[in-house]
Parts: sequence; C-alpha cells; structure tokens
Amino acid sequence: MEAEWWRDAVFYEIYVRSFSDSDGDGLGDLPGIRSRLPYLRELGVDALWLTPFYPSPDADHGYDVADYADVDPRFGTLADFDAVVADAHALGIRVTVDLVPNHTSDRHRWFTEHPDYYVWADRPNNWPSHFGGPAWTFDATRGKYYLHLFAPEQPDLDWHNPAVKDEFEPILRFWLDRGVDGFRIDVGHSLYKHPELPDEPEPFPLETPFSSDWRLAVDQPEVHGLYREWRVLLDSYPGERMLVGEIVFSDPRRIAEYVRSDELHLSFNFGLLHEEWRADRLRMTIDRTLAALGEVGASSSWVLENHDVARLATRYGSLRGARAGALLLLALPGAAFLYAGQELGLDEVELPDEARRDPIFLRTNGERLGRDGCRVPLPWSGDAPPFGFTTGEPWLPQPAGWSGFTVEAQAGDPASTLALYRAALAARPRGGALAWRESPPGTLVFERDGLLCLVNVSAPSLDLPEGELVLASEPDVTAVLPPETAAWLRLPVPSLGRGRSARP
Ligand code: BGC
Repeated sequence: MEAEWWRDAVFYEIYVRSFSDSDGDGLGDLPGIRSRLPYLRELGVDALWLTPFYPSPDADHGYDVADYADVDPRFGTLADFDAVVADAHALGIRVTVDLVPNHTSDRHRWFTEHPDYYVWADRPNNWPSHFGGPAWTFDATRGKYYLHLFAPEQPDLDWHNPAVKDEFEPILRFWLDRGVDGFRIDVGHSLYKHPELPDEPEPFPLETPFSSDWRLAVDQPEVHGLYREWRVLLDSYPGERMLVGEIVFSDPRRIAEYVRSDELHLSFNFGLLHEEWRADRLRMTIDRTLAALGEVGASSSWVLENHDVARLATRYGSLRGARAGALLLLALPGAAFLYAGQELGLDEVELPDEARRDPIFLRTNGERLGRDGCRVPLPWSGDAPPFGFTTGEPWLPQPAGWSGFTVEAQAGDPASTLALYRAALAARPRGGALAWRESPPGTLVFERDGLLCLVNVSAPSLDLPEGELVLASEPDVTAVLPPETAAWLRLPVPSLGRGRSARP
C-alpha cells in the first residue's frame, strides 16, 4: 500500500444532497453516489469526502446531527453506505466522512438526557453566532442560556466534560469498523471553549471568512490532546486512516499547530480559497502556507471550492480564470480538495429569495445571501432541469441554461472543463518540492518533479520555454500564454535529449 497516501491525494467533496438522486425525492442520496462511482474513477480522484448524511432535522443541512451512528432515511441506509464503501474501494477510491463534534442537533437525545454535555451560562456574554444574532439562546426548562456558535438548533458541546470525549470514541470506531478511510473534522479549531467564557473585546466582522481569527473562545490548548488521542485511535486501524481538520485561521502558523506529527494528518488551508486572483497575493499565500506547514513536517492541502463559498468561476470573474486556477491548484505540492461541480466549471447560481434555504440567509433576513448558490444539484445529462440529477424536483432549482455544463455534454468534448480536470488529474505531479522560477509580474512560474507550471494571471503574455506541452488550460495555447491561462510543461532532460519544443 502507498505510504501516507493522503499527503498528495486528490479528495473530491460530495455535498450529498446535491450530487445524485436515486429515488426521485429531489435530494441526492447514497445509492445515487454509488451509481456515479465509475464517473469519479474516470475523473481520477483518490478519495471522497461525504458531507453529513446522518439523521438530522436539517437546520443546517445535516451539520446538525441527531444521531452520529446512522444514515438519515432520506439518504439511504447503513447497507447503502457499506455498498458505497465497498464499491469505491473496489475502484481504488477511498472514502472519508464528515465528523461534526463541535455541536449536535438540539434534537439529539443528549440535549435532553445529558444537558451537562453542553455549554450553559446564567447570563449570556457578547459572543455572536456565525449565522447571525447572539450565540446564546435561553432555555426555559433549565432557566439558563446555552451556547451555539452556529444556529440555535446546533448547541455547542462542552468538551471540558470528559463524558463527551467518551461518547465520541465509539462513534469514530463505528465508522472506522465500517471501513471509512478517515474523517473531515467540522470546525476542528473550536471544540474547547475558553472555560471562563470571556466577552469578546470588540465586535468582529462575522461575514469575513476568517472571523475565527478574532474569537477568544476557540483554539484552546486542550484540543491538541484530543487530536493526539484520535490519532492513536486511527493508527490502531490498518490501512492508513486519516484526519483532516477544518481549521479556519488566516495565519498558517496557527494551523500548523494542528498538524504536528502526532495530531491531524492534514488541515484545510483556506488561504488560497479566500485569496484574490492576483499573482503576487497567490504566491505570498503559497509561500506562507508551505513555510508554516513545512516547519512541522506537514503536507499542505489546497482548496479552491467547497460547499460554503461561491463557485470559483464566479469568484475569479470567468471560467477561463477558473480553468487556469485548476492547473495551479493541481500542481502545488500536497493534497488537493475538489468540490463536486468544480470539474464542470459551474458558476455560482443566483437563486430567487424564496428558493434559498441556507440558515445564514434566513437568520439574517437576507442581509447575507448565504451558501445556496454553490449547492445547486449537479447537471448530469439532458437539455433541461433536472438534468438527470433526479426524476423529481431538485431541492434547489437548477438554471435552465446549464445544458452545456452537463457531464454528458462535456464528457466527449476535449476542450471541456471536465476534460481538462481529467487530464490534469492524470498528469499531475506527485512528490517533489516547489521551486519558483523567474516569474514576470502578474505570473506564477514554478517547477515540481520535472514539470514546469506556468500561470499567467494578468500579464499581457507569457512565453513558454522549451519543453513538451503536457496540458494547457485553453485549447489554443501553443507558444505563448495569454492572460488568465496556465500550462504544464515537461522540461527537457538534457542527458537523455528528450526535450521537445512547445511549438508544434
Ligand atoms: C461547515 C458548514 C457548517 C458549519 C457548522 C462548517 O464548517 O462546512 O457548512 O454550516 O461548519 O457545522
């Protein structure tokens, strides 16, 4: 077995309810995922990350878990889950699942049977909820306030209570015994709160991606002990199971503390995700991330899309930019996370207010639009909604104009975004450090493992040096990269005389 496979793996995030629906209820489900595994094999991903499919009243689309060791009937059964794992493994694809340990649903039985598992206060402090409004709700039965960093239906667990840890170990074992290859830990930096629950010194901008930078409540030292214990637990299983933490800080040095050699295997590094499409900014983020994680011997992981952020083509202002970004992402050293639909070049969807379902939209009375626009069900085939996603009504409406974006439309087109991702996943360098090469302003040029990655973000043009053109983000690229394009070149190996000109 490949040692430390996760270090440079490509993970594919499946937002379960938006991927593929097998039973016509308009929600994607596990049998739907299973039926699409050959597509994912052909795409060339190494591992899946499935967002929560556990029983949930859906205040935050499954991130409010009511039972950690079961499948919500809307998404299938445990047998369906086992079948996904078995089929994925047979195709050489690993399966990781979401673990949500910061909070439960308020309908989880613990909330009534074990209120001492949660964080309570006689008087609320000034902490705001990430989803708008205060982070405290009064519970008339207890005569106290309970903490919820997210929606009121997501009470935060009190990890200072050792019973909480005791509850989670069997949950991890439950899924490990079923064969999962690892867990993505939701809001992994905030499990332990400051025991004194002090007021935040001043209001901070909740709508910014790194609002956790300001929170005094989170990033407490005890969390590292927990991750060390979980690491030992995972290491006791065969087959290199792994943990990736959602650790949301702008400073990669803070993230590095979570990926020391005896803690999490990987963390998300959202620096790149939240960076502008500007060469100097991107380079600075890449350097800072690699330096900080390198200090602790950790592999980086790179992300340009997920289910919480607007689609890349929309953020970069063009599909062309998004395609160039893909070649940057997949040439960087470390692991990469793709979000379902990224490989199709989907745009953020502008939904009518009445269709929006995100608690962020609902709780801020529409002041913040929320995340529905990147969660619209995938277009698989056909000329009109529901584009093969379901036989019923998709849970969020798909744009009528998506017919050119379907898997069916793109699969046979060598110039499509899907074809670009397939080719990039097949040709992507693995192993080897990044070495910057002369990069004129507005460009990024680096070498890795004999491959030269050239990204022209905004320079008038960038000449391609001598070498074999492996892949370009636009079909007409030959000797020169115009703005918003990228290319990979295999460098000539002088002693073997294998070099060929990029000019055909
Ligand atoms: C998830 C969000 C979710 C939040 C609360 C985030 O990390 O990615 O989708 O709303 O945690 O669980």
